[in-house]
Amino acid sequence: MTSTVPTPHGLPLDRDASPFDPPSAITRLREGRPVSPMLFPDGHEGWLVTGYDAVRQAMADARFSSRQDIGILHLPYETPGMPAMTEPSPQVPGVFINMDPPDHTRLRRTLTGAFTVKRMRQLERHITEIAERQLEHLANLTPPVDLVREFALPVPSLVICEMLGVPYAHRENFQVNSAKILVKDISLEDKMAAYNELTGYLAELVTGKRAAPADDLLSDLARNDDLSVEELVGMAFVLLLAGHETTANMLALGTFALLEHPDLAAELRADPDLLPGAVEEFLRHLAVVDFLYRYATEDIELGGETIPEGSTVVLALLAANRDPRRFDDPDALDPHRNARGHMSFGHGIHQCLGQQLARIEMRAGFGGLLRRFPTLRLAVPAAEVRLRTDMNIYGVHELPVTWTDTAP
Ligand code: HEM
Repeated sequence: MTSTVPTPHGLPLDRDASPFDPPSAITRLREGRPVSPMLFPDGHEGWLVTGYDAVRQAMADARFSSRQDIGILHLPYETPGMPAMTEPSPQVPGVFINMDPPDHTRLRRTLTGAFTVKRMRQLERHITEIAERQLEHLANLTPPVDLVREFALPVPSLVICEMLGVPYAHRENFQVNSAKILVKDISLEDKMAAYNELTGYLAELVTGKRAAPADDLLSDLARNDDLSVEELVGMAFVLLLAGHETTANMLALGTFALLEHPDLAAELRADPDLLPGAVEEFLRHLAVVDFLYRYATEDIELGGETIPEGSTVVLALLAANRDPRRFDDPDALDPHRNARGHMSFGHGIHQCLGQQLARIEMRAGFGGLLRRFPTLRLAVPAAEVRLRTDMNIYGVHELPVTWTDTAP
């Protein structure tokens, strides 16, 4: 396919349209060349996929490998000092999000029982209680406060800690090191140091659980002799990181969006039955995991282009969710639409394992905030809210909020 759309140099990240919309360079690319070559900062050529159909097709195609170095740890060609990839990287034990079958299948299977819809329904009341306790904590503070620190980060952290059996008192280690791991522009050395500190902690934890299992998910895994300690550590790392950073950013960015759309906030306050649809629409509209990375294991035809074997392929989930060929009036934030089919939890064999958990947390979080804080508003001008364009999971660094009244 020929095109006049310029090849992007580096991944366009600047949220120039609004904090909630894809960079305009990405939108233009989707309209002009939805499967496009791109140049990474080190000059290496890769591909950027922005159209809904092509993104979905790529995620369903096992020839696009997930073995992208240690993907969540350092994405290719963005971290200074990162060597160019010439083949799928060796799999890190237990880090199944960056594995292909059959290893991915074997490890994911050990977890599916803990994340079924039924199991999540059983946990729903308890998760709501955790959110309510955190709302009570928030209500007792004197505003203005940072909603990220006091609510959006604690709720999913408390939930995943309890599920896994990680003491919440140790959150400093995993919250600080996870954040460092997700920064795009720090040296490989600093990232490795953060990774080693976090996995060192988890190694001690799972060794303890293997010796004396308790009633939690990591203990259940530790009872399984087919899993090595290294695998337990890798799995715990993925679950802990994926379990708190993603939902925390959805809660914070979603609240920011609500405060910028007061009519929507009023509508949801008046009719809480709209909440499940609104949560799905927030997921579609905001997609905090805005990019996923894959590696082409052979020449692959996609959207009329040939992606050569060995290419790094970036899948733009947010751009796909805003594709007008898939969703009518895609940039409108509309809780009445059917947002299902969005790409925010991925698609195919790696589709998010924690998606039901995340939905429950978001319903409890947004619903509780709307109910208890009828006068919630930003404490700074919207333009001053610091956006996480420097992180591999998007959102806001802080969300300063204030209020005058709380409700029971
Ligand atoms: C995978 C998004 C919450 C655990 C994924 C993927 C996405 C995603 C896009 C696919 C990655 C890929 O294909 O490479 C999100 C979002 C969340 C969220 C937007 C919140 C709103 C959670 C929670 C957990 C979790 C609460 C709890 C443990 C996982 C795991 C995987 C995964 C374990 C890897 C699955 C696999 O490789 O088979 N998530 N996630 N996620 N997510 Fe989530």
